[in-house]
Amino acid sequence: MAKIVGGIGSSHIPAIGVAMDKGLEDTPYWRDFFQSYVPLRKWFNEVDPDILVIFYNDHGLEMFLDKKPTFAVGTAAEYENADEGWGINPIPPVRGETELSWHIVNELVENDFDPTVCQEIKVDHGLTVPLTLMYPAKDYSKVKVIPICINCERHPMPKLSRSYAFGQQIGRAIESFGGDQKVVVMGTGGLSHQLDGERAGIINTEFDLLCMEKIVSDPEYLTKYSLEDIVELAGGQGVELNMWMAMRGCLTGKVTEGYSNLVAPISNTAAGIQLLINE
Ligand code: DHB
Ligand code: FE
Repeated sequence: MAKIVGGIGSSHIPAIGVAMDKGLEDTPYWRDFFQSYVPLRKWFNEVDPDILVIFYNDHGLEMFLDKKPTFAVGTAAEYENADEGWGINPIPPVRGETELSWHIVNELVENDFDPTVCQEIKVDHGLTVPLTLMYPAKDYSKVKVIPICINCERHPMPKLSRSYAFGQQIGRAIESFGGDQKVVVMGTGGLSHQLDGERAGIINTEFDLLCMEKIVSDPEYLTKYSLEDIVELAGGQGVELNMWMAMRGCLTGKVTEGYSNLVAPISNTAAGIQLLINE
């Protein structure tokens, strides 16, 4: 059976991609942030996963406000990205894992989740930036990626409890998939941030640290927060915590923290970095 060896929470700020393209990793602004990925990548390279399941949100590249699936799963054999206007270099195409994608879709629908099935979809910075953080040389041709999208842009959005349950169902689907593949799940985005409006720039490291603590030992604790609470506490885009909750939901074994750090601010965001080991 496929095995989920761990989960990673990572920011997906577009400026990270630009900094990597420009070789700015070791400059004073970026050093602490990129240093955080050194221990994470050491673990990741040792695991060398066969499949990466990435929970991200589409910020408007494919799903603009006029068409907004709550949950969407990619089932394509290959994914490309496209210019979103942030100035990140395009990345080489990402290989898909069609069989496991369809298994996940079938298991979701069978168990009362109804995702949009995307047989063709371009992926945005929510996926490409964290992928590039794990493979800085962009040498990810061996790994197969399954993009799973959660609406974080337009109300109504799924509650944290729903994204957590969505992740749990996906975790069960992955672990019932025949084979001996090593799978790593990623939740991208967050933590506290707001990009526009009167409260643009808001950061709440105290709340972010609480989230990072609870997500290891007691993720259900976080489901008591409504999305209105999250917007209040962590800003409008703080709702990207949904992707971390889905990632955590996939981890069905004994979960321990392998690494964590919070660097704030990076651009407008408190950048959380966390490794959860699933035994
Ligand atoms: C930033 C953060 C995001 O999550 C995003 O999608 C775009 C930009 C930022 O802080 O710049
Ligand atoms: Fe975002």
